[in-house]
Amino acid sequence: MNKSPDAQRMEKIVSLCKRRGFIFQSSEIYGGLNGAWDYGPLGVELKRNVKNYWWRVMVHERDDVVGMDGAILTHPQVLKASGHVEGFSDPMVDCRTCKARLRADQVIEKKGIRQCPNCGGRDLTEPRPFNLMFQTQMGAAADESSIAYLRPETAQSIFVQFKNILEVSRKKLPFGIAQIGKAFRNEINPRNFTFRSREFEQMELEYFCRPEEGMELLEYWKEERLKFYENIGISRDRLHVKTVPDEERAFYSKGTYDIEYDFPFGRQELEGVAYRTDYDLSQHQKASGKSLEYFDEETKQRFVPHVVEPSAGVDRTVLALICGAYSEDEAPDEKGKMETRIVLRFHPRMAPIKCAVFPLLKNKEPLVSKAQEIVNFLRPHMNVFYDESGAIGRRYRRQDEIGTPFGVTVDFETFGEKDAALRDTVTLRERDSMKQERVPVKDLPGILVSRIS
Ligand code: GAP
Repeated sequence: MNKSPDAQRMEKIVSLCKRRGFIFQSSEIYGGLNGAWDYGPLGVELKRNVKNYWWRVMVHERDDVVGMDGAILTHPQVLKASGHVEGFSDPMVDCRTCKARLRADQVIEKKGIRQCPNCGGRDLTEPRPFNLMFQTQMGAAADESSIAYLRPETAQSIFVQFKNILEVSRKKLPFGIAQIGKAFRNEINPRNFTFRSREFEQMELEYFCRPEEGMELLEYWKEERLKFYENIGISRDRLHVKTVPDEERAFYSKGTYDIEYDFPFGRQELEGVAYRTDYDLSQHQKASGKSLEYFDEETKQRFVPHVVEPSAGVDRTVLALICGAYSEDEAPDEKGKMETRIVLRFHPRMAPIKCAVFPLLKNKEPLVSKAQEIVNFLRPHMNVFYDESGAIGRRYRRQDEIGTPFGVTVDFETFGEKDAALRDTVTLRERDSMKQERVPVKDLPGILVSRIS
Protein backbone atom coordinates (compact mmCIF):
# COMPACT_ATOMS: atom_id res chain seq x y z
CA MET A 1 0.00 0.00 0.00
CA ASN A 2 1.30 3.46 -0.92
CA LYS A 3 1.93 5.72 2.06
CA SER A 4 0.13 9.05 2.16
CA PRO A 5 2.28 12.19 1.58
CA ASP A 6 1.82 13.07 5.27
CA ALA A 7 3.02 9.63 6.41
CA GLN A 8 6.02 9.93 4.08
CA ARG A 9 6.76 13.39 5.43
CA MET A 10 6.61 12.08 9.00
CA GLU A 11 9.00 9.25 8.11
CA LYS A 12 11.48 11.74 6.67
CA ILE A 13 11.22 13.88 9.79
CA VAL A 14 11.84 10.93 12.13
CA SER A 15 14.79 9.83 10.02
CA LEU A 16 16.28 13.36 9.94
CA CYS A 17 15.90 13.61 13.72
CA LYS A 18 17.99 10.48 14.17
CA ARG A 19 20.49 11.15 11.39
CA ARG A 20 21.34 14.66 12.59
CA GLY A 21 21.13 14.06 16.33
CA PHE A 22 17.87 15.67 17.38
CA ILE A 23 16.06 12.67 18.88
CA PHE A 24 17.01 9.01 19.42
CA GLN A 25 14.97 6.17 20.77
CA SER A 26 15.91 5.57 24.39
CA SER A 27 18.06 2.45 25.06
CA GLU A 28 18.20 1.87 21.32
CA ILE A 29 21.14 -0.58 21.42
CA TYR A 30 19.00 -2.85 23.63
CA GLY A 31 16.02 -2.77 21.31
CA GLY A 32 14.53 0.49 22.62
CA LEU A 33 12.35 1.46 25.55
CA ASN A 34 8.86 2.13 24.29
CA GLY A 35 7.56 5.63 25.05
CA ALA A 36 10.93 7.07 26.11
CA TRP A 37 13.19 9.27 23.98
CA ASP A 38 16.67 10.73 24.30
CA TYR A 39 17.46 14.14 22.85
CA GLY A 40 20.82 14.39 21.10
CA PRO A 41 23.17 17.40 20.78
CA LEU A 42 20.83 19.41 18.53
CA GLY A 43 17.59 18.24 20.15
CA VAL A 44 18.70 19.35 23.58
CA GLU A 45 19.51 22.84 22.24
CA LEU A 46 16.12 23.13 20.58
CA LYS A 47 14.35 21.93 23.72
CA ARG A 48 16.28 24.39 25.88
CA ASN A 49 15.40 27.23 23.53
CA VAL A 50 11.70 26.36 23.90
CA LYS A 51 11.90 26.15 27.69
CA ASN A 52 14.03 29.27 28.06
CA TYR A 53 11.71 31.32 25.89
CA TRP A 54 8.65 30.06 27.81
CA TRP A 55 10.35 30.98 31.10
CA ARG A 56 11.33 34.38 29.73
CA VAL A 57 7.81 35.38 28.67
CA MET A 58 5.90 33.62 31.44
CA VAL A 59 8.17 34.52 34.40
CA HIS A 60 10.96 37.03 33.71
CA GLU A 61 8.95 39.49 31.64
CA ARG A 62 6.06 39.60 34.16
CA ASP A 63 5.65 41.06 37.62
CA ASP A 64 2.84 38.70 38.56
CA VAL A 65 4.50 35.29 38.11
CA VAL A 66 7.20 33.50 40.08
CA GLY A 67 8.78 30.12 39.41
CA MET A 68 9.41 26.91 41.29
CA ASP A 69 11.01 23.53 40.73
CA GLY A 70 9.30 20.72 42.62
CA ALA A 71 10.26 17.11 43.29
CA ILE A 72 9.27 14.36 40.88
CA LEU A 73 8.70 11.82 43.68
CA THR A 74 5.28 12.60 45.07
CA HIS A 75 3.60 11.76 48.38
CA PRO A 76 0.63 9.44 47.79
CA GLN A 77 -1.66 11.74 49.81
CA VAL A 78 -1.08 14.54 47.30
CA LEU A 79 -2.29 12.37 44.44
CA LYS A 80 -5.15 10.93 46.48
CA ALA A 81 -6.39 14.44 47.22
CA SER A 82 -6.01 15.52 43.59
CA GLY A 83 -8.05 12.53 42.42
CA HIS A 84 -5.22 10.86 40.47
CA VAL A 85 -5.00 7.69 42.58
CA GLU A 86 -8.71 6.98 42.10
CA GLY A 87 -9.45 8.51 38.77
CA PHE A 88 -6.37 8.97 36.58
CA SER A 89 -7.03 5.98 34.37
CA ASP A 90 -7.92 4.94 30.86
CA PRO A 91 -10.38 2.09 30.26
CA MET A 92 -8.37 -0.73 28.72
CA VAL A 93 -9.23 -3.88 26.78
CA ASP A 94 -7.00 -6.93 26.12
CA CYS A 95 -7.21 -8.91 22.89
CA ARG A 96 -6.91 -12.58 23.83
CA THR A 97 -5.96 -13.52 20.26
CA CYS A 98 -2.95 -11.26 19.56
CA LYS A 99 -2.37 -10.19 23.20
CA ALA A 100 -2.54 -6.50 22.28
CA ARG A 101 -3.49 -4.10 25.06
CA LEU A 102 -5.79 -1.44 23.67
CA ARG A 103 -7.49 1.69 24.87
CA ALA A 104 -11.23 0.95 24.88
CA ASP A 105 -11.84 3.76 22.38
CA GLN A 106 -9.53 2.06 19.87
CA VAL A 107 -11.68 -1.06 19.69
CA ILE A 108 -13.65 -1.29 16.45
CA GLU A 109 -17.34 -1.99 16.73
CA LYS A 110 -19.14 -3.47 13.71
CA LYS A 111 -22.85 -4.23 14.03
CA GLY A 112 -22.50 -4.36 17.79
CA ILE A 113 -19.55 -6.78 17.70
CA ARG A 114 -16.26 -5.61 19.14
CA GLN A 115 -13.13 -6.29 17.09
CA CYS A 116 -9.40 -5.88 17.70
CA PRO A 117 -7.97 -3.18 15.38
CA ASN A 118 -4.66 -5.15 15.21
CA CYS A 119 -5.71 -8.68 14.25
CA GLY A 120 -9.46 -8.42 13.77
CA GLY A 121 -9.97 -10.90 16.66
CA ARG A 122 -13.26 -10.78 18.53
CA ASP A 123 -12.14 -12.37 21.78
CA LEU A 124 -11.73 -9.21 23.86
CA THR A 125 -11.87 -8.63 27.62
CA GLU A 126 -14.34 -6.17 29.14
CA PRO A 127 -12.89 -2.66 29.61
CA ARG A 128 -11.01 -2.30 32.90
CA PRO A 129 -9.61 0.93 34.38
CA PHE A 130 -5.84 1.13 34.06
CA ASN A 131 -4.14 3.73 36.23
CA LEU A 132 -1.63 5.73 34.25
CA MET A 133 0.64 6.61 37.17
CA PHE A 134 4.06 5.08 37.75
CA GLN A 135 4.24 3.80 41.29
CA THR A 136 7.54 3.29 43.07
CA GLN A 137 8.86 2.47 46.51
CA MET A 138 10.86 4.75 48.75
CA GLY A 139 13.23 3.44 51.42
CA ALA A 140 13.75 -0.12 52.60
CA ALA A 141 10.24 -1.01 53.80
CA ALA A 142 8.15 -2.88 51.25
CA ASP A 143 4.70 -2.01 52.58
CA GLU A 144 1.98 0.55 51.86
CA SER A 145 3.87 3.25 53.73
CA SER A 146 6.74 3.19 51.22
CA ILE A 147 4.63 3.92 48.14
CA ALA A 148 5.42 7.06 46.17
CA TYR A 149 4.50 8.11 42.66
CA LEU A 150 6.38 9.72 39.81
CA ARG A 151 4.31 12.86 39.24
CA PRO A 152 1.82 12.61 36.36
CA GLU A 153 1.77 16.43 36.00
CA THR A 154 3.89 19.22 37.48
CA ALA A 155 0.80 21.12 38.65
CA GLN A 156 0.26 19.33 41.96
CA SER A 157 3.52 20.49 43.57
CA ILE A 158 2.48 24.06 42.73
CA PHE A 159 -0.84 23.64 44.57
CA VAL A 160 0.84 21.96 47.51
CA GLN A 161 3.43 24.77 47.81
CA PHE A 162 0.88 27.53 47.20
CA LYS A 163 0.94 28.83 50.79
CA ASN A 164 4.73 28.81 51.14
CA ILE A 165 5.19 30.65 47.86
CA LEU A 166 2.45 33.15 48.64
CA GLU A 167 4.20 33.99 51.91
CA VAL A 168 7.73 34.31 50.52
CA SER A 169 6.82 36.15 47.33
CA ARG A 170 4.26 38.46 48.98
CA LYS A 171 2.25 38.52 45.76
CA LYS A 172 -1.31 39.77 45.58
CA LEU A 173 -4.04 38.13 43.51
CA PRO A 174 -4.04 37.62 40.63
CA PHE A 175 -0.61 35.99 40.46
CA GLY A 176 0.91 32.83 39.07
CA ILE A 177 3.40 30.09 39.86
CA ALA A 178 5.25 28.57 36.91
CA GLN A 179 7.11 25.31 36.61
CA ILE A 180 8.88 23.32 33.91
CA GLY A 181 9.69 19.70 34.52
CA LYS A 182 9.30 16.01 33.84
CA ALA A 183 6.01 14.17 34.16
CA PHE A 184 5.37 10.45 33.78
CA ARG A 185 2.34 8.55 32.52
CA ASN A 186 2.18 4.87 31.78
CA GLU A 187 0.41 5.48 28.47
CA ILE A 188 -1.16 2.30 27.14
CA ASN A 189 -0.27 3.13 23.61
CA PRO A 190 2.69 5.51 23.18
CA ARG A 191 2.71 6.64 19.57
CA ASN A 192 3.41 9.22 16.89
CA PHE A 193 7.10 9.58 17.66
CA THR A 194 7.48 11.75 20.80
CA PHE A 195 3.87 12.96 20.70
CA ARG A 196 2.53 10.48 23.25
CA SER A 197 5.39 9.39 25.50
CA ARG A 198 5.60 7.81 28.93
CA GLU A 199 8.20 10.30 30.11
CA PHE A 200 7.81 13.89 28.94
CA GLU A 201 8.19 17.47 30.05
CA GLN A 202 5.52 20.02 30.84
CA MET A 203 5.56 23.82 31.10
CA GLU A 204 2.74 24.74 33.46
CA LEU A 205 1.45 27.93 34.95
CA GLU A 206 -1.09 28.00 37.76
CA TYR A 207 -2.53 31.51 37.72
CA PHE A 208 -4.45 32.18 40.95
CA CYS A 209 -7.29 34.68 40.94
CA ARG A 210 -10.57 35.80 42.47
CA PRO A 211 -13.59 33.69 41.44
CA GLU A 212 -15.12 36.54 39.43
CA GLU A 213 -11.93 36.88 37.33
CA GLY A 214 -11.74 33.25 36.21
CA MET A 215 -13.61 33.31 32.90
CA GLU A 216 -11.95 36.52 31.70
CA LEU A 217 -8.49 35.17 32.57
CA LEU A 218 -9.24 31.98 30.67
CA GLU A 219 -9.69 34.09 27.53
CA TYR A 220 -6.62 36.16 28.35
CA TRP A 221 -4.35 33.12 28.76
CA LYS A 222 -5.67 31.46 25.61
CA GLU A 223 -4.64 34.55 23.63
CA GLU A 224 -1.26 34.85 25.38
CA ARG A 225 -0.49 31.24 24.64
CA LEU A 226 -1.40 31.60 20.97
CA LYS A 227 0.97 34.56 20.80
CA PHE A 228 3.72 32.42 22.33
CA TYR A 229 3.42 29.80 19.60
CA GLU A 230 3.47 32.44 16.88
CA ASN A 231 6.53 34.06 18.46
CA ILE A 232 8.48 30.82 18.26
CA GLY A 233 7.64 30.47 14.59
CA ILE A 234 4.59 28.21 14.60
CA SER A 235 2.31 29.35 11.84
CA ARG A 236 -1.12 30.59 13.03
CA ASP A 237 -2.77 28.66 10.17
CA ARG A 238 -1.67 25.40 11.75
CA LEU A 239 -2.94 26.29 15.23
CA HIS A 240 -6.54 25.68 16.22
CA VAL A 241 -8.48 26.42 19.36
CA LYS A 242 -10.96 23.76 20.41
CA THR A 243 -13.53 24.64 23.03
CA VAL A 244 -13.74 21.47 25.07
CA PRO A 245 -17.44 20.56 25.31
CA ASP A 246 -19.15 20.19 28.70
CA GLU A 247 -19.28 16.40 28.57
CA GLU A 248 -15.52 16.08 27.93
CA ARG A 249 -14.46 18.63 30.54
CA ALA A 250 -13.40 17.73 34.09
CA PHE A 251 -16.45 18.20 36.35
CA TYR A 252 -14.74 21.00 38.31
CA SER A 253 -13.68 23.01 35.24
CA LYS A 254 -15.83 25.92 34.13
CA GLY A 255 -14.11 26.22 30.77
CA THR A 256 -11.26 24.56 28.87
CA TYR A 257 -9.59 25.25 25.55
CA ASP A 258 -7.28 22.87 23.78
CA ILE A 259 -4.69 24.52 21.56
CA GLU A 260 -4.22 22.07 18.72
CA TYR A 261 -1.65 21.80 15.95
CA ASP A 262 -1.82 20.23 12.49
CA PHE A 263 0.84 17.52 12.78
CA PRO A 264 1.46 15.30 9.72
CA PHE A 265 -0.42 12.57 11.65
CA GLY A 266 -3.44 14.78 12.28
CA ARG A 267 -4.73 17.66 14.37
CA GLN A 268 -3.66 17.04 17.96
CA GLU A 269 -3.41 18.81 21.30
CA LEU A 270 -0.34 20.93 22.07
CA GLU A 271 -1.61 22.57 25.21
CA GLY A 272 -4.66 22.77 27.47
CA VAL A 273 -5.83 26.06 28.96
CA ALA A 274 -8.27 25.28 31.76
CA TYR A 275 -10.20 27.23 34.34
CA ARG A 276 -10.03 24.75 37.24
CA THR A 277 -12.01 26.86 39.75
CA ASP A 278 -10.90 26.32 43.39
CA TYR A 279 -11.00 22.55 43.05
CA ASP A 280 -7.31 21.73 43.57
CA LEU A 281 -6.59 24.05 46.48
CA SER A 282 -9.87 23.05 48.18
CA GLN A 283 -9.05 19.36 47.81
CA HIS A 284 -5.60 19.82 49.36
CA GLN A 285 -7.00 22.02 52.10
CA LYS A 286 -9.55 19.36 52.99
CA ALA A 287 -7.09 16.44 52.83
CA SER A 288 -4.17 18.12 54.65
CA GLY A 289 -6.21 20.06 57.19
CA LYS A 290 -4.02 23.13 56.43
CA SER A 291 -5.60 26.39 55.38
CA LEU A 292 -4.87 27.33 51.78
CA GLU A 293 -6.95 30.47 51.96
CA TYR A 294 -5.97 33.92 50.79
CA PHE A 295 -6.69 37.02 52.83
CA ASP A 296 -7.74 39.97 50.71
CA GLU A 297 -6.46 43.13 52.45
CA GLU A 298 -8.86 45.36 50.54
CA THR A 299 -12.13 43.53 51.14
CA LYS A 300 -10.98 41.83 54.38
CA GLN A 301 -12.31 38.58 52.95
CA ARG A 302 -10.73 35.14 53.28
CA PHE A 303 -11.28 32.63 50.48
CA VAL A 304 -9.70 29.79 48.50
CA PRO A 305 -8.37 31.27 45.23
CA HIS A 306 -9.50 30.00 41.86
CA VAL A 307 -6.99 29.05 39.20
CA VAL A 308 -6.52 29.24 35.43
CA GLU A 309 -3.95 26.81 34.07
CA PRO A 310 -2.15 26.96 30.73
CA SER A 311 -0.39 23.58 30.54
CA ALA A 312 1.91 22.91 27.60
CA GLY A 313 4.05 19.96 26.57
CA VAL A 314 7.72 20.66 25.84
CA ASP A 315 8.16 17.57 23.68
CA ARG A 316 5.01 18.28 21.68
CA THR A 317 6.12 21.86 21.09
CA VAL A 318 9.54 20.64 19.92
CA LEU A 319 7.85 18.13 17.61
CA ALA A 320 5.53 20.82 16.22
CA LEU A 321 8.55 23.06 15.58
CA ILE A 322 10.38 20.31 13.71
CA CYS A 323 7.30 19.27 11.70
CA GLY A 324 6.52 22.88 10.78
CA ALA A 325 10.12 23.71 9.91
CA TYR A 326 10.80 20.72 7.67
CA SER A 327 10.84 21.66 4.02
CA GLU A 328 12.41 20.67 0.76
CA ASP A 329 13.29 23.09 -2.00
CA GLU A 330 15.78 23.35 -4.84
CA ALA A 331 19.24 24.86 -4.76
CA PRO A 332 22.20 24.71 -7.15
CA ASP A 333 25.02 22.28 -6.36
CA GLU A 334 28.74 23.01 -6.85
CA LYS A 335 28.38 22.80 -10.63
CA GLY A 336 25.24 24.91 -10.76
CA LYS A 337 22.93 21.91 -11.27
CA MET A 338 19.71 22.13 -9.26
CA GLU A 339 19.34 19.59 -6.45
CA THR A 340 16.87 19.00 -3.62
CA ARG A 341 17.75 20.89 -0.49
CA ILE A 342 16.36 19.84 2.90
CA VAL A 343 15.88 22.84 5.17
CA LEU A 344 14.60 23.17 8.71
CA ARG A 345 13.14 26.66 8.63
CA PHE A 346 13.28 27.27 12.37
CA HIS A 347 12.61 30.73 13.69
CA PRO A 348 16.17 32.01 14.46
CA ARG A 349 15.07 32.32 18.12
CA MET A 350 14.56 28.56 18.30
CA ALA A 351 17.36 27.30 16.02
CA PRO A 352 19.80 25.01 17.91
CA ILE A 353 22.84 26.62 16.28
CA LYS A 354 22.51 30.30 15.43
CA CYS A 355 25.53 30.80 13.21
CA ALA A 356 28.05 28.57 11.43
CA VAL A 357 31.49 29.94 10.62
CA PHE A 358 33.48 28.65 7.67
CA PRO A 359 36.94 29.36 6.26
CA LEU A 360 36.58 29.19 2.49
CA LEU A 361 39.47 26.68 2.33
CA LYS A 362 40.76 24.53 5.15
CA ASN A 363 44.36 24.40 3.97
CA LYS A 364 44.93 28.16 4.06
CA GLU A 365 46.11 28.99 7.55
CA PRO A 366 45.13 32.71 7.58
CA LEU A 367 41.53 31.82 6.58
CA VAL A 368 41.32 29.15 9.27
CA SER A 369 42.73 31.27 12.07
CA LYS A 370 40.52 34.26 11.14
CA ALA A 371 37.43 31.98 11.13
CA GLN A 372 38.36 30.59 14.54
CA GLU A 373 38.91 34.11 15.84
CA ILE A 374 35.35 34.98 14.69
CA VAL A 375 33.98 31.87 16.43
CA ASN A 376 35.55 33.02 19.70
CA PHE A 377 34.27 36.56 19.11
CA LEU A 378 30.67 35.34 18.64
CA ARG A 379 30.63 32.57 21.26
CA PRO A 380 29.72 34.76 24.28
CA HIS A 381 26.60 35.90 22.39
CA MET A 382 25.21 32.69 20.86
CA ASN A 383 25.68 29.02 20.02
CA VAL A 384 28.09 28.94 17.06
CA PHE A 385 29.57 26.10 15.04
CA TYR A 386 32.85 25.92 13.16
CA ASP A 387 33.13 23.77 10.03
CA GLU A 388 36.05 23.55 7.64
CA SER A 389 35.47 20.20 5.94
CA GLY A 390 34.23 19.76 2.38
CA ALA A 391 33.18 22.17 -0.34
CA ILE A 392 31.52 25.35 0.91
CA GLY A 393 28.21 24.44 -0.78
CA ARG A 394 28.13 21.12 1.08
CA ARG A 395 28.82 22.90 4.34
CA TYR A 396 25.90 25.28 3.72
CA ARG A 397 23.63 22.29 3.00
CA ARG A 398 24.61 20.54 6.23
CA GLN A 399 23.66 23.66 8.19
CA ASP A 400 20.42 24.18 6.23
CA GLU A 401 19.39 20.64 7.16
CA ILE A 402 19.68 21.38 10.88
CA GLY A 403 18.11 24.82 10.62
CA THR A 404 21.12 27.10 11.26
CA PRO A 405 19.81 30.51 10.16
CA PHE A 406 23.14 32.21 9.44
CA GLY A 407 26.47 31.27 7.87
CA VAL A 408 29.61 33.40 7.94
CA THR A 409 32.36 32.72 5.40
CA VAL A 410 35.90 34.02 5.66
CA ASP A 411 37.43 34.37 2.19
CA PHE A 412 40.36 36.15 0.58
CA GLU A 413 38.40 39.43 0.46
CA THR A 414 38.48 39.37 4.29
CA PHE A 415 42.17 40.23 3.98
CA GLY A 416 41.50 43.05 1.56
CA GLU A 417 43.64 41.41 -1.12
CA LYS A 418 41.76 42.89 -4.07
CA ASP A 419 39.88 45.71 -2.44
CA ALA A 420 41.15 47.34 0.74
CA ALA A 421 37.62 48.50 1.56
CA LEU A 422 36.65 44.86 2.12
CA ARG A 423 39.34 44.21 4.73
CA ASP A 424 37.84 42.65 7.87
CA THR A 425 34.51 41.92 6.23
CA VAL A 426 32.88 38.51 5.70
CA THR A 427 29.92 37.14 3.76
CA LEU A 428 26.83 36.59 5.84
CA ARG A 429 24.42 34.08 4.28
CA GLU A 430 20.79 33.76 5.28
CA ARG A 431 19.42 30.19 5.28
CA ASP A 432 15.95 30.64 3.75
CA SER A 433 16.64 33.18 1.00
CA MET A 434 20.27 31.99 0.55
CA LYS A 435 21.07 35.69 0.04
CA GLN A 436 24.58 36.84 0.92
CA GLU A 437 25.65 40.24 2.18
CA ARG A 438 29.08 41.61 2.99
CA VAL A 439 29.37 42.80 6.59
CA PRO A 440 32.22 44.07 8.81
CA VAL A 441 33.34 41.45 11.34
CA LYS A 442 32.99 43.97 14.18
CA ASP A 443 29.27 44.38 13.39
CA LEU A 444 28.49 40.64 13.43
CA PRO A 445 27.39 40.30 17.09
CA GLY A 446 25.01 43.28 16.83
CA ILE A 447 23.50 42.16 13.52
CA LEU A 448 23.08 38.54 14.57
CA VAL A 449 21.80 39.17 18.10
CA SER A 450 19.12 41.52 16.75
CA ARG A 451 17.94 38.76 14.39
CA ILE A 452 17.95 35.83 16.85
CA SER A 453 16.52 37.26 20.07
N1 GAP B 1 -2.00 19.85 34.61
C1 GAP B 1 -2.86 19.64 33.49
C2 GAP B 1 -2.41 18.57 32.60
O1 GAP B 1 -1.46 17.86 32.88
P1 GAP B 1 -2.90 17.47 30.29
O2 GAP B 1 -3.78 17.93 29.18
O3 GAP B 1 -3.05 16.06 30.77
O4 GAP B 1 -3.12 18.52 31.46
C3 GAP B 1 -0.93 18.97 29.50
O5 GAP B 1 -1.39 17.70 29.86
C4 GAP B 1 0.01 18.88 28.32
O6 GAP B 1 1.07 17.95 28.60
C5 GAP B 1 -0.63 18.33 27.03
O7 GAP B 1 -1.31 19.34 26.32
C6 GAP B 1 0.59 17.84 26.30
O8 GAP B 1 1.24 18.88 25.62
C7 GAP B 1 1.48 17.31 27.41
N2 GAP B 1 1.31 15.84 27.54
C8 GAP B 1 0.34 15.19 28.21
N3 GAP B 1 0.50 13.85 28.09
C9 GAP B 1 1.58 13.66 27.30
C10 GAP B 1 2.27 12.51 26.81
N4 GAP B 1 1.89 11.29 27.12
N5 GAP B 1 3.35 12.68 26.01
C11 GAP B 1 3.78 13.94 25.70
N6 GAP B 1 3.19 15.06 26.15
C12 GAP B 1 2.10 14.94 26.94
